[in-house]
Order: sequence, then C-alpha cells, then structure tokens
Amino acid sequence: MSDRLNGKVALISGGASGIGLAIAKRFASEGAKVALGDINAESGEKVAAEIGDNAMFVTLDVTKEEMWEAAFKAVIEKFGKVNVVVNNAGIAIGNNIEDIPLEQWNKVVAINGTGMMLGTKHGIKNIKNYGGGSIINMSSIEGFIGEPFNLAYDFTKGGVRIMSKSAALYCAEKKYDIRVNTIHPGYIHTPMVDTHPGLVKLEESKTPMGHLGQAQDIANMALFLASDESSFATGSEFVVDGGYTAQ
Ligand SMILES: NC(=O)c1ccc[n+]([C@@H]2O[C@H](COP(=O)([O-])OP(=O)(O)OC[C@H]3O[C@@H](n4cnc5c(N)ncnc54)[C@H](O)[C@@H]3O)[C@@H](O)[C@H]2O)c1
Repeated sequence: MSDRLNGKVALISGGASGIGLAIAKRFASEGAKVALGDINAESGEKVAAEIGDNAMFVTLDVTKEEMWEAAFKAVIEKFGKVNVVVNNAGIAIGNNIEDIPLEQWNKVVAINGTGMMLGTKHGIKNIKNYGGGSIINMSSIEGFIGEPFNLAYDFTKGGVRIMSKSAALYCAEKKYDIRVNTIHPGYIHTPMVDTHPGLVKLEESKTPMGHLGQAQDIANMALFLASDESSFATGSEFVVDGGYTAQ
C-alpha cells in the first residue's frame, strides 16, 4: 500500500468488471476511497466488499441522469466529498455502416456517449464544491482510428475525445481547477475482448508488442491522472496501446 491518492474520493463507473475493477483496486491500494457505479450490482457489491471499508457500491445506469445525481449524493453522504470521476462504463456491439440497426446505434451512443457526458457534467458540478480534482474519460484507440466492424463504438470514442477537450477548456476558463483527460487503451484482456477468442488472436497479431494489455496497465495510467502528479495535464489524450497507433 502506498499513498499517491491519500485523502481522495473517486467514483468509477463500470467498476464491477475489467478495467473499471482494476482501477478501483489500484486507487484503493493508493489510499483513495472508491465508489463503484455499475448496472451489475451482484459483481459490484462483491468487488466493493473485497476492497473493504474504503469502498462502496452504487447502482448506476450511466444513461440515466437521475441515477448520476443519486450516486453522487450517496458517495458524498458516505465519504464526505468527491475529487475524481472515472467515466469508464462502456459496451461494444460490433456492426458496420450498411447493416447497423438504428436501435443498436442508439444503445451504444446512449451508454458510451451520453453516459460519458452525464458523468462529466455531474462530475464537474460536484467536484467543484470540494477544491477541484480530475475527470478521466475512457475512450479507446478507436477514438483515433476506425474499425470497419465497430461503427457506433468508434463514433462514441471519437466523440468522448473531443467532448472531454471542450469540458477541460470550460473548467480552465471557469478556474474550477478540474482537469479532464481521456485514456485511449489498445486491446486489453477483459471480458469485453476475451469473450471473443478470434478477436484476441487477431489483435495480438496487430499489436507491435505482440500481446494484449492487462487491465492493470490502464489502471496505472488512471492512477497518474487521478493523482496530483498530473496537475498540469488537461484536455489531453493518454494512449496505452502496446504500439498499436504508432504504426
Ligand atoms: N478491453 C479493451 O480492449 C478496451 C479497449 C479500449 C477501451 N476500452 C473501454 O474501457 C471501458 C471498460 O471496458 P472493459 O473492457 O473493462 O469492459 P467490461 O465489459 O469488462 O466492463 C464494462 C463494465 O461496464 C458496465 N456497464 C455496462 N453498461 C453500463 C451502464 N449502462 N451503466 C453502468 N455500467 C454499465 C458493465 O456492467 C461492466 O461492469 C469501456 O469504456 C471500453 O470501451 C476497453
């Protein structure tokens, strides 16, 4: 246990699985109090219990504004404040520009796009009351490059990249002392990817380092952005991809 996040309180969406789970554990190991927000209460409660007294679970569907309001209220009631929000919850439903049904498009946009906006909006509204802090939005390398089979996902990940810059500039102008940045993971071993064995093989072959990343690799970047070590970074993009976008 170390203390790079001592005294900080973080709300992490999608904290019940994969990258969000790794971030929650990493933050807690560095002295933060963490709230895991997720639609998966069973897994979220279990992870929070594993972390212990410095963790709580809140049921959160990121597409519902009233649930964000309730989540921040619950976190502040239990831990007294909030300094860090990680907008991490996301889904991937593969489809292409010719075949995608509107309903599927709307679902991905609601979670990966609107959900990130709501988390950023309410993150700012709450963090500004507690002396500033950091908002970390989970984009993807697909915020820079397109995949032919991931249309709606790519739309949202590109949107999150630019939306975060707008929010960062707004916070700077308002002198809120809130940084807003994006993380851009390459392909990472989590249920989102590992449940598609063909995808793992394909992306291993396309990643210069020859293997996929671990959730911990992304949690380490999130730790830097959550801590005061990143105090001069805002509106920026942090790529962790084994060299994928260097090609
Ligand atoms: N795994 C990768 O290779 C990879 C690469 C780039 C970016 N990402 C991004 O990282 C983030 C986390 O992905 P992961 O790989 O850990 O996926 P995951 O499927 O393991 O976890 C996603 C979590 O989000 C939750 N979630 C889904 N819909 C929700 C909603 N409406 N409200 C609240 N929670 C909801 C799920 O219950 C789950 O706990 C996503 O935004 C994803 O796009 C992942």
